[in-house]
Amino acid sequence: MTQTLLLLPGDGIGPEVTAAAARIAGLVAPDLELQDDLVGGASIDAHGTPLTDDALARAKDADAVLLGAVGGPKWTDVARDKRPEMGLLGLRKGLDVFANLRPAYCFNALVDASSLKREIVEGLDLMIVRELTSGVYFGQPRGIDTDADGTRRGYDTSVYTSPEVERVTRVALEIARGRAGRVCSVEKSNVMETGLFWRNEVTSVHQVHGAGVELSHMLADACAMELVRNPKQFDVILADNLFGDLLSDEASMLTGSIGMLPSASLGIEGTPGLFEPVHGSAPDIAGQGLANPCAAILSLEMALRWSLARPDAADRVMGAVAKALEGGARTRDLGGSMSTDQMTDAIIDQL
Ligand code: IPM
Ligand code: MG
Repeated sequence: MTQTLLLLPGDGIGPEVTAAAARIAGLVAPDLELQDDLVGGASIDAHGTPLTDDALARAKDADAVLLGAVGGPKWTDVARDKRPEMGLLGLRKGLDVFANLRPAYCFNALVDASSLKREIVEGLDLMIVRELTSGVYFGQPRGIDTDADGTRRGYDTSVYTSPEVERVTRVALEIARGRAGRVCSVEKSNVMETGLFWRNEVTSVHQVHGAGVELSHMLADACAMELVRNPKQFDVILADNLFGDLLSDEASMLTGSIGMLPSASLGIEGTPGLFEPVHGSAPDIAGQGLANPCAAILSLEMALRWSLARPDAADRVMGAVAKALEGGARTRDLGGSMSTDQMTDAIIDQL
């Protein structure tokens, strides 16, 4: 049966880096059927909404979805529920991809590209598992309104249910089993009810499903500090939606450039995963052929591994990126001068 990969290039540098990933897909998985559709600002421009029902239906029908990036200055004044970011959140929610895997590994060739000292990041390999479809990102009620006495207020609701914490915890435990076997769960149980709830639930899930995995807990602010002090202490970090968002951006900088990091968002077995670079749409360099395609290419690598069951193709992609970097291939964000196409060519040469 033919597998399909739906490409959602989106906005800014999204189309450039997705095109690079599509070139690689054509080489390592030539039988894969590539489709494409619009998301984010591109979809707003064409259809007046950041995600059409049709695009979501195609995503659900695909075997995996590869997204570029969404958003840009052109759409900052659009009503919130119509912002490009809502296309991404709608896709995450619609596909129910509750477990967001954000690896932070440092390629040997890039140890000196990090703003941290070589000995802190050399050999770094950690995985952040971020809950992606609940928490303060989706909790109700939320709003900006005016009290009876005329005081304006803005509010969001941070909420988690027990099944939501359980399913993402089980993914983190499973991932840890295939790695060094350690999960560090982070929250703010010292100030937040959801934090205390999260901690207790994770502990219970670990008692039942955690055989062979060592569980520890850390406050999210302390984790932010430890990530730059001694990041190699971590194997898997398990976080809620908001803390996972913050900590994964921080972790990305350990690796030299946010332009290097992919992510995978997974739902229950047998449903399509959503794969996307951790970086955003970078409007400042969009359309100039300057973007680093590695994060998108490595997102394809994760799609091949996690949704398409093609580990050999995934290994080839990973190996080719590492070799291209060893050979000195560098886009501007990595201190080099290669264009997106030249960087992609360098990776293709290694394939
Ligand atoms: C991310 C991004 C998104 C998020 C934005 C674009 C909605 O920062 O994927 O980390 O906050 O989840
Ligand atoms: Mg983010």
